[in-house]
Amino acid sequence: MSFPRTLTVVLLLALLSSWNLPAAHAQPAQSSRAVSLAQTLDNREVFVDSLTSMMTLQEKLGQLAQYPSQWSDTGPSVPAGRQEDVRDGKVGSFLSLYTAEATREMQEIAVEESRLGIPLLFAYDVIHGYRTIFPIPLGEASSFNPDLARRTARAATREATAGGVHWTFAPMVDLSREPRWGRVMEGAGEDPYLNSVLARARVHGFQGPSVAADTTVMATAKHFVGYGAPQAGRDYHTVDVSDRTLHEIFLPPFHAALDAGARSVMPGFNEIAGVPMHAHDGLIDGLLRDDWNWNGVVVSDYTAVWELKEHGIADTDLSAGVQAIEAGVDVDMVSGIYGDTLDTAVRSGRLRTEEVNEAVQRVLRAKWDVGLFKNPYRYGNEEREDDVILSDEHRELARTAAHQSMVLLKNENNTLPLDDDVESLAVIGPLADDARSILGEWAASGRAEDAISVLQGLRNRSGVDVTYVPGLPDVKSTDTANVSDAVAAAQQADAALLVIGEEFNMSGEAASRTSIELPGAQQELAEAVVGTGTPTASVLLNGRPLALTGLDQTVPAILEAWYPGTEAGPAVADVLFGDVNPSGKLPMTFPRVTGQIPIFYNHKNTGRPPVEGQDYKSTYLDTPWTPLYPFGHGLSYTSFSYSAPRTSADSITVNDSVHVQVDVTNTGDRTGTEVVQLYVHDPVASITRPVQELRGTKRSELAPGETRTARFTLTMDDLAFHGPQMERIVEPGRFQVQVGTSSANVQTTTFRLTGSQTAVPLDVPVAP
Ligand code: BGC
Repeated sequence: MSFPRTLTVVLLLALLSSWNLPAAHAQPAQSSRAVSLAQTLDNREVFVDSLTSMMTLQEKLGQLAQYPSQWSDTGPSVPAGRQEDVRDGKVGSFLSLYTAEATREMQEIAVEESRLGIPLLFAYDVIHGYRTIFPIPLGEASSFNPDLARRTARAATREATAGGVHWTFAPMVDLSREPRWGRVMEGAGEDPYLNSVLARARVHGFQGPSVAADTTVMATAKHFVGYGAPQAGRDYHTVDVSDRTLHEIFLPPFHAALDAGARSVMPGFNEIAGVPMHAHDGLIDGLLRDDWNWNGVVVSDYTAVWELKEHGIADTDLSAGVQAIEAGVDVDMVSGIYGDTLDTAVRSGRLRTEEVNEAVQRVLRAKWDVGLFKNPYRYGNEEREDDVILSDEHRELARTAAHQSMVLLKNENNTLPLDDDVESLAVIGPLADDARSILGEWAASGRAEDAISVLQGLRNRSGVDVTYVPGLPDVKSTDTANVSDAVAAAQQADAALLVIGEEFNMSGEAASRTSIELPGAQQELAEAVVGTGTPTASVLLNGRPLALTGLDQTVPAILEAWYPGTEAGPAVADVLFGDVNPSGKLPMTFPRVTGQIPIFYNHKNTGRPPVEGQDYKSTYLDTPWTPLYPFGHGLSYTSFSYSAPRTSADSITVNDSVHVQVDVTNTGDRTGTEVVQLYVHDPVASITRPVQELRGTKRSELAPGETRTARFTLTMDDLAFHGPQMERIVEPGRFQVQVGTSSANVQTTTFRLTGSQTAVPLDVPVAP
């Protein structure tokens, strides 16, 4: 929309002349200069231009500076010196400042005491909940249920916005094939399709139909890009991926998040092929902004602008700052380099003012879009905090999300659910009583005292007498002195339950492991308990795939619960006792041993495809080449049978689509939910293609004996790949369609694509 230029100038002059420049502290609430200007102009682009023209260089750099809060027993706050910076217009946003009270206090200083009164943005890592904690994202991904992911993000956002938060640093859309890397807990696993579907859902959940609502936050797609592929699985380590892998595997979830409207992007701590992401002009300004036409805010990761010096591409703060802003990083989180050095860079001619202006304008647009110039105080609200935080509705949703996240990995002889006649249960393992670990890492302001441990959840069930024995001092311990107590408890009970895995801080940031086998003496504990002969099942709490060969050989039933969140206890109890039938599927491959990593379902065939036991094939001498539990695996208390898949045509022409149907029947005696999975394979192409690629999933609940038809449509987008010149194309030929209950259990049909090679360009996201 255009705004008459003369009118703008007249209004601007009128406003300026009515103010006593340069400084006028204590503007009345909601009518700072910036707010009045916005209300007068009522047009984003005109306003942003006008406000920028009124700002000093230091004020501009202030908008690009983000600082952290400090934490004490009374909650987050801002140190006095930093408050002074806010008065001086040297801060644009805060990290981890939340609660209605704390955010209002700072907003008042910014709006009423700084020269222009530009409101602050409050950002927080609301990853899988704010105070009510939902399952970790990897767990939630096991639901293969985008609507669930949208609803939990929505609920978290209701709580966070009541606490004054405008901006979350989520979703993390870093696909990863690297379970040693602790941050897999924060993502959606190894598959580009599932990552993309969930990225969209989470962005919709955070941002709702519009970021302008005071109950929505700006979403951040992070960490752009390749951060999930660190060498040796060590966090922050070097990344070196081919362009094709980047475009086909790591970039699609970012594209999906931006296409869904994500207002912000955070680069990764990593480099790619020698270029640190915070200085990657080619991928930030080039790909995101030019090719994808996206113009949201790029916020650095924590101190990452400064880290350009450690990477070895800058010798001074100033050089680091210039490289980052020139690459397109708008906001400098924590390092302070933009505020401290970029004025010198501009004045000395090393940095163009336009670079600064563009970054500032992107921040101001974001502030406009979330409605801060309409009313800087519209988010945080104590009454809303009381209403929504830990509300019954949110707790109920947390319980449902936990149900849908659990994956039944193994269930020999129908060990689970526990029989109705189980009257005494020995609960064993140090994690059973750990109300902090069930929240997982990145639990925002979640608290152990709000959460219900697995032990408590089981104790809350009537009719079962629960005895608890930790067996080990902690999960990492190799001190087996008290294992005999666990054995004694198991001997006296009708059934035993092992609650084992990893403590919450064994995954997450900077929590890589070289061995993803069960830590400590937990395997020995499991063997001793099973050795009693008492029927035993195990519940796993962990934030990454584990190598469970030993446990798989020991325990008849294994339920992967991940970190289920605030309602872990009741949710685990519901599943163990059969009130809820598990339906989760693995979003990431579980290897047999750590040494198989990287192992993922969508691998290439190679010239010597693996055949176990044959020489000179792509296998190992000491371990089967296959995973222990494949991608998409997950059992149920009932059973399902599949018809052969059917395609709507044997042959389609380029630019057409093909429909695929399969009938799924519940052949057991309980209602259950099955996640039907559809994969494609292009057996002959100009570039080698993965042996299977997920292209659709359908969750359906089936009553005993019920049959339903799952329907999918495959379009050119689903068949496209990056050709020899990196152009996105489809090539004619025969395609395989694989449908089944996991990546390793499918039935196959084929169809032919006729015509000639055709370009399939990516849809370009709409600029915010
Ligand atoms: C993480 C980011 C996070 C930021 C702010 C960093 O250490 O890598 O994902 O958003 O901290 O908390």
